[in-house]
Amino acid sequence: MKKARIAVLVSGGGTNLQALIDAEKNGKIPSGTLSVVIASKPGVYALERADQAGIPALAVSRKASGSQAAFEQQLLDILESYRIDMIVLAGFLSILSKDFTDRYPQRIINIHPSLIPAFCGAGYYGLKVHEAALSYGVKVTGATVHYVNEVPDGGQILLQKAVEILPGDTPQVLQRRVMEQAEWILLPQAAEMVAAKIIGKEEHA
Ligand code: GRF
Repeated sequence: MKKARIAVLVSGGGTNLQALIDAEKNGKIPSGTLSVVIASKPGVYALERADQAGIPALAVSRKASGSQAAFEQQLLDILESYRIDMIVLAGFLSILSKDFTDRYPQRIINIHPSLIPAFCGAGYYGLKVHEAALSYGVKVTGATVHYVNEVPDGGQILLQKAVEILPGDTPQVLQRRVMEQAEWILLPQAAEMVAAKIIGKEEHA
């Protein structure tokens, strides 16, 4: 059975990438294989995690690329050279254009650290998401995996998981709980769902 070749795009510490690596090692992503990791800037720890897992890892500097189009063309060239079937955005901070997302319809997924449509869209990333949830005073937050289109956090929702907010939570404490109790569980599950659909489709084509 052909496995779906998965690219993981990262920008930071790579804890979601690590969850994917551990899930693959534990046989939880049988329909896919992590085939390349691409960081939007050099030197991020996610690249180190890829190296330790023996996954090819490259950095394409968004800043050095000059334009979004030039940056995306470099990404597309790498994705093509690694024969990628699907893309997982794991802490990836660049908003991809419609030209890019149209190249991989229903083949790009993203993990967002809130229950979309709350606390999402342009400007909501990293700790900012949890700061907004805490200042609003919601009692429950969580994480969402969704398909990616050109609207930031706008694609069809795949999976969600709720996480309690506790008295005295700081943004850092809440971020960690959402990662542990939601993100790191949902992303491998969603990756397997999409990979299975891709190879399932091919077998019946
Ligand atoms: C975190 O804020 C996470 O909630 C979001 O991206 C950021 C970095 O994640 N998905 P990672 O540790 O680089 O995976």
